[in-house]
Amino acid sequence: MSEEKVNKRLSRRQFLKGAAVVTGAAVVSGSLLEACAPAAPTTPTKAPAAPSAATPATKAAVTPAAEVKPAAGPPLKIGVLLPYSKVYAVLGESITNGMVLYFESIGNTIAGRKIDLIKEDEENDAQASLRKTRKFIEQDKVDLMTGLVNSAIAYAVRDIVHDNKMILLISNAGANGLTREKKSPYIFRTSFSNWQPNYPMGDWVAKHTSKKVFCSAADYAAGKEMIAAFKETFVPAGGTVLGEIYPPLGNTDYGPYLAKIAEAKPEATYSFYSGSDAVAFVKQYEEYGLKKTAKLTGAGWLVEQDVLPAQGKAALGAISGLNWANTLDIPENKKFIEAYQKKFNVEPNSFAVQGFDTARVIHEAIEKTKGNTSDKDALIKALESVKFASPRGPFEFDPVTHNVIQNIYVREVKEVGGKLANVVIDTIKAVKDPGK
Ligand code: BEZ
Repeated sequence: MSEEKVNKRLSRRQFLKGAAVVTGAAVVSGSLLEACAPAAPTTPTKAPAAPSAATPATKAAVTPAAEVKPAAGPPLKIGVLLPYSKVYAVLGESITNGMVLYFESIGNTIAGRKIDLIKEDEENDAQASLRKTRKFIEQDKVDLMTGLVNSAIAYAVRDIVHDNKMILLISNAGANGLTREKKSPYIFRTSFSNWQPNYPMGDWVAKHTSKKVFCSAADYAAGKEMIAAFKETFVPAGGTVLGEIYPPLGNTDYGPYLAKIAEAKPEATYSFYSGSDAVAFVKQYEEYGLKKTAKLTGAGWLVEQDVLPAQGKAALGAISGLNWANTLDIPENKKFIEAYQKKFNVEPNSFAVQGFDTARVIHEAIEKTKGNTSDKDALIKALESVKFASPRGPFEFDPVTHNVIQNIYVREVKEVGGKLANVVIDTIKAVKDPGK
């Protein structure tokens, strides 16, 4: 079908109306001015308190922090670099909320050190993120760093983190190389590699959905790596990729791209978009009428809980792969969802789970080192040994790459109790990135 014909179905005004939905960005939570506070020493000046037997890390999760001992050592400064504006604003807010929920459950104290979260906006900008990383290291003198949503930005800050021996826990950005050829002893990833959800989905889509697929993704490192991982198993399983298209990150008008997809007459599409991109793509996909002829599939963020309410029925029936699902029927998940909803009055999403788990990793590791963050080797060893039952299922690090080993869930968007939900229809267990 020609671009002109498709565009007739969806007027410019309809497009703009759809695009308007995606501009609602989250507000920065917490004051960025906190970041200007004078630096405190990174090593406790007094002997830190021993881990409280009354609140072992494995029990803390989301229970109230009534028995936590008062802070004795210097504040534990954690530099948090997440997007609080632009295309991935809601992702940054959700990860922060997950961390806040966990840290509150342990009384905002680890091994006698009060937790001090110093938040900075990733701004979807590598230069700004580099500047802020430098600030964490040189000015704030943080004990460790966490965050990063955008793969390209994670690649950009890798060297400064590594060269300064700064412990970094990546809580989203899936940049494959950071746990492969560019891995560092100081970098851990609690989220996923871009390969992780997409590699199993290639085989799954070829066997269960269609062998004639068109791929599309946001035009940057994450989009390219995800589609490459999908093809790694889709093509050997007999699949044909009818075409690939990469609109810019932060796009609002998918009209010309949808026209190209429609022209190729695929039976299904496989896509990576997240945040406001995912809202716009999925809504416009339906408005174009593509949903009637090409099954919508993709990396799970395409229809994750953060975007489902804005997408509405346009997302119904979509198949996607991710490291979590809100319908995952395990006690840790039920407890997490209940506590999150109670605190924030909104449903959690996979980003919130990643934030929650990141906070738990920090807690368990620093309890093990008795509050000491300056002995990097000891802290790395402690981090490597963290293992627990997460709301997403079993969580552990690959000690070789520092990437999380986890289940990937194949989910289908269905209406459950009057609401849209990602229902688990298959589980690929203990998926480990091939990094060495
Ligand atoms: C990334 O850039 O790595 C990414 C961003 C949003 C969702 C998933 C991955």
